[in-house]
Amino acid sequence: MTAVPFGRGVRIAGTGRAVPAEELTNKDLEKIVDTSDEWIQQRTGIKARRRANDSETVFSLGRDALLKALAHSGINASDLDMIIVASVSGEMICPSTAARISEAVGADEAAVFDLAAACSGFLYGMNLADTMIRCGRAKNIAVIGVEVLTRLVDWSDRSVSIIFGDGAGAAIFTADPDPSKGCIHQTMHGDGRLWRTLYHPKLDRDVPAGDEANPIRLGHLRMHGREIYKFAVTRFQEAIREALDATGMKVDDVQQYICHQSNIRIIESAIEKLQLPADRVYINIDRYGNTSAASIPICLDELLEAKTIGPGKPIILVAFGAGVTWASCVWNM
Ligand code: ACO
Repeated sequence: MTAVPFGRGVRIAGTGRAVPAEELTNKDLEKIVDTSDEWIQQRTGIKARRRANDSETVFSLGRDALLKALAHSGINASDLDMIIVASVSGEMICPSTAARISEAVGADEAAVFDLAAACSGFLYGMNLADTMIRCGRAKNIAVIGVEVLTRLVDWSDRSVSIIFGDGAGAAIFTADPDPSKGCIHQTMHGDGRLWRTLYHPKLDRDVPAGDEANPIRLGHLRMHGREIYKFAVTRFQEAIREALDATGMKVDDVQQYICHQSNIRIIESAIEKLQLPADRVYINIDRYGNTSAASIPICLDELLEAKTIGPGKPIILVAFGAGVTWASCVWNM
């Protein structure tokens, strides 16, 4: 791994995204499960999501997002010191998806591992990348957030199948001589006591005592949506408040808020409670649904592509997910 001097800053050299071709609208879902376009839009803000076909995988979407990020960054794959793949839906546990992606892009000697922090996974990875680069242990790190959760849902379970979508986003982080660039505040939290609110049981023994209620569909995601919702609303607001307080900023001092796209009502309640400037809170859940670990990097890529964000005021990123996990990052572009 390349060593660079301590005290460097970090910048985002390039980002990329890859989403499946098939768009599954709420109207399409009405034909699969007892639901309505109106209910889904009202309760979640989702209009459509992407769904992977048999040949679109966590591996292929992650690889494609990374190739785009590399092209935008001007950095060669062979110069990557590390590839972190944030995902909970990879095709194989062994080897890591990161290992297979490193071979596919030609990052032959990069350190590779997968990171399972669900929807907070990309932010966990981004925070780790910043720290590794800043302290001189690495120079170039790729973080990919990618999920194909539509393969894990029970399509007859309307409380879960309407939420999730598939996709991938990637970012290349690199050392910068200006130490003020990059992460100026970060948090990574967890509370394992709440893991039962969202899990993926494969065998009977995976189902925790007290959660045997029908229907338990092994091989499919089991989600207690209302509990997650309550937890998420509180943690989301706390994480943003904490980030503002720690950096001494007011809500208007932030150029953009990039929130995990879980449910529009969770984001709207943070806007209302904290009086955030709504035009600076990015929303794309209407087009993609909840893409878990891919949500934040897809937002980041769209915002950079549209040149909505750039040097100037910091951005705040915040996510929560299964585990439960939550994380934040205040970033100077
Ligand atoms: N269509 C129509 N009606 C529905 C649907 C549906 N798709 N789903 C539930 N309902 C009904 C229920 O049966 C219930 O009816 P009842 O009152 O007659 O019993 C009613 O709507 C309300 O059900 P709730 O479960 O309370 O619905 P809620 O408003 O909480 O919305 C949702 C459900 C959207 C899942 C919400 O709880 C949520 O967004 N939770 C957070 C989920 C989340 O973020 N999960 C991802 C974590 S990320 C990760 O790490 C992968």
